[in-house]
Amino acid sequence: MTVVAVLSMKGGVGKTTVALGLASAAWDRSLRTLVIDMDPQANASLVLEPVDAVFTTSDVLADARPGVAVDAIVPSAWGRGIDVLPAERSLEHRTVSRERNSALRLRTALATTPRSYDLVVIDCPPSLGELTRNALSTADCAVIVTEPSHFAIHGAAEALEAVDVIARSTNPMLRARAVVVNRFDPADREHLGNLRLLHEAHGELVQDPPLPYCAGIPVTQRAMSPLHAWNSPGSQEVAQTMDDLLDRLMPPARPARPMPRVSLARYLA
Ligand SMILES: Nc1ncnc2c1ncn2[C@@H]1O[C@H](COP(=O)(O)OP(=O)(O)OP(=O)(O)O)[C@@H](O)[C@H]1O
Ligand SMILES: [Mg+2]
Repeated sequence: MTVVAVLSMKGGVGKTTVALGLASAAWDRSLRTLVIDMDPQANASLVLEPVDAVFTTSDVLADARPGVAVDAIVPSAWGRGIDVLPAERSLEHRTVSRERNSALRLRTALATTPRSYDLVVIDCPPSLGELTRNALSTADCAVIVTEPSHFAIHGAAEALEAVDVIARSTNPMLRARAVVVNRFDPADREHLGNLRLLHEAHGELVQDPPLPYCAGIPVTQRAMSPLHAWNSPGSQEVAQTMDDLLDRLMPPARPARPMPRVSLARYLA
């Protein structure tokens, strides 16, 4: 089982889009997947449409008895074994805690969750506070999402630092596995310069290729549909990058199908 937290300090950069993209790639492969929504905005929950949800991550963190999360996990409307632990607005009240070990509440609550999931994806809120610390204390890998802008790349560096802090304290298993650059425009010199800076700072961690602006992304989200069920050329390109990202987190037994694509090196030359 791979448990991945998708995070960034900055809001609106595409965390939920990448978390849902990974869930969509898993849906396409019929992998048993759980999406945990740790954002009070509950955007991932909105797109996944939890079926008959009674409890949420807010209840789970409030209770935090070992294994209590099982009662809050429900199927999503996507089907094919994609489950969801949904969020709600009141999760906001769980964002400040002075208790010892409060960053371990999610991990404890999931403790006896059946290990039958192939993949668990945790969508984080736009901060490195208590909720994200809970996600990082539960995950074994982290994906940082950023845009090719000056402020966003500072946010990405801070997110990577937060991953290091958790790896050195509560969760030695945790590793940063990818930095995904979203809404990249190769015609924009500012984007090219910032992509180069990201590559110099984080090397191979930067996912290749970056994600372009794709009008199909908000459309599939509004339709509450997996990206992989959508047929427009733009959505297919993003779906391919999500497949590559999933391969990176869960290396396939067989080599992935080769596909001609634009390489990061082309922008960095
Ligand atoms: N590559 C893209 N092309 C077009 N639209 C995108 C792209 N990535 C994200 N979006 C849209 O931008 C908006 C913000 O994306 P998203 O919700 O994934 O960001 P976020 O980082 O999760 O935001 P928040 O910090 O509020 O949780 C959404 O409406 C989404 O559909
Ligand atoms: Mg989000």
